[in-house]
Amino acid sequence: MPESLRIGVAGIGTIGGGVLKLLHENAEILEERCQRRLEVSAICDIDRARGADWSHIPWFDDAETMLREAQLDVLVELIGGSDGIAKTLSESALGARKHVVTANKALIAHHGTALTRAAEEAGVTLAFEAAVAGGIPITKALREGLVGNRIGRVYGILNGTCNYILTAMRETSREFDEVLSEAQALGFAEADPSFDVDGVDAAHKLCILASLAFGCEIDFDAVHIEGIRHISPLDIRFATELGYRIKLLGIARLTDHGVERRVHPCLVPLVNPIAHVEGVFNAVVADGDYVDTTMYEGRGAGERPTASAVVADLVDIARGRVVPPLGVPTKSLKPIPKAPMERHRGPYYIRLMVRDRPGVFAEIAAALGEAQVSMEAVIQRGRSPEEPVPLVMTTHETEEASMLAALERIQGLDTVVEPPRMIRVQTFKAPPDAAV
Ligand code: HSE
Repeated sequence: MPESLRIGVAGIGTIGGGVLKLLHENAEILEERCQRRLEVSAICDIDRARGADWSHIPWFDDAETMLREAQLDVLVELIGGSDGIAKTLSESALGARKHVVTANKALIAHHGTALTRAAEEAGVTLAFEAAVAGGIPITKALREGLVGNRIGRVYGILNGTCNYILTAMRETSREFDEVLSEAQALGFAEADPSFDVDGVDAAHKLCILASLAFGCEIDFDAVHIEGIRHISPLDIRFATELGYRIKLLGIARLTDHGVERRVHPCLVPLVNPIAHVEGVFNAVVADGDYVDTTMYEGRGAGERPTASAVVADLVDIARGRVVPPLGVPTKSLKPIPKAPMERHRGPYYIRLMVRDRPGVFAEIAAALGEAQVSMEAVIQRGRSPEEPVPLVMTTHETEEASMLAALERIQGLDTVVEPPRMIRVQTFKAPPDAAV
């Protein structure tokens, strides 16, 4: 039997603890599958209390010291953060020809291409299955299971916190702030929820998926990002009435103008299975030219699912199964331009709060007409000469620039009393042509 794979784990928080538990509890089956032991040779964290259960494993307070002094084949980086110690430690490990496994989406989103290049130069692997959609093996699916396909589009629910909040808002008709506070009290949302609810975490994952799907560099700055703070129970109710669910989606697509990468709330038709992925679950859909549509659903976060993904990467390394981390060597990554968001085409949901007076609708229809936006459906509920009432419309497919021009005109009308709410409708008809 080959020698053990010697693993050093940096960061013994929730995920680190889960990795240690999994490697311990499933040691036998892992050894059988790898024909090799996966041995934790060293662990490191600044908080020694976290190591209480693992006192038999050599402990280091400093990760760089662990890297220098412990005999390691692999560094598992579970410290987090796009820069600082997570980055320098990963660079040091690759420079010292150690494989690196990480769950750190921010690190890969911002430095993934450079770190992959460093791994190639050192002849080792950089693996990050746990960084995208937690326990769902989506990087492996795109890089290996779907390797024979041209991927035209990849999209999904990439943030469990947002999906939990939107689900709870729909089920209980409560406002965003109230549901967020409850999610924080229950431990489903971070004390600082901004990365989750403002769409940044989903954007980290999306730009990694786009690189794997289309063979381009990981480009976080190319992602158009909107979060869910402005979603109201009123919009969720109207969406339901129109046959949709509101979901925060990350969508990457090849278009005639380049790669579109966007994270924003969407109205998803109830006929699409992703509309029914609720609570903390994640789901990713990938369309390939031969396989057609594939969908992957599971837990996108948490100790056990994320540990499952980290260990899958360790097993690949133990088996000597090394593939290019981004699907192709970095020198073959294509410089595909970023598709500008103004060129996005699709239907839109618009909600206005208007004074209920004769002629209001005619003014709004004229503003839409002038911008070449064609209406599909209109709902007006309530009748109140004093209070503003909601006026909801969906449009036929139009270009984003036209929609924004129409909304600017509409916002200037005296009878429209609040800034218009716009949510993109995502119908996901036929998979687009995969060729670019
Ligand atoms: N906070 C993320 C989520 C998981 O809510 O899905 C880690 O990226």
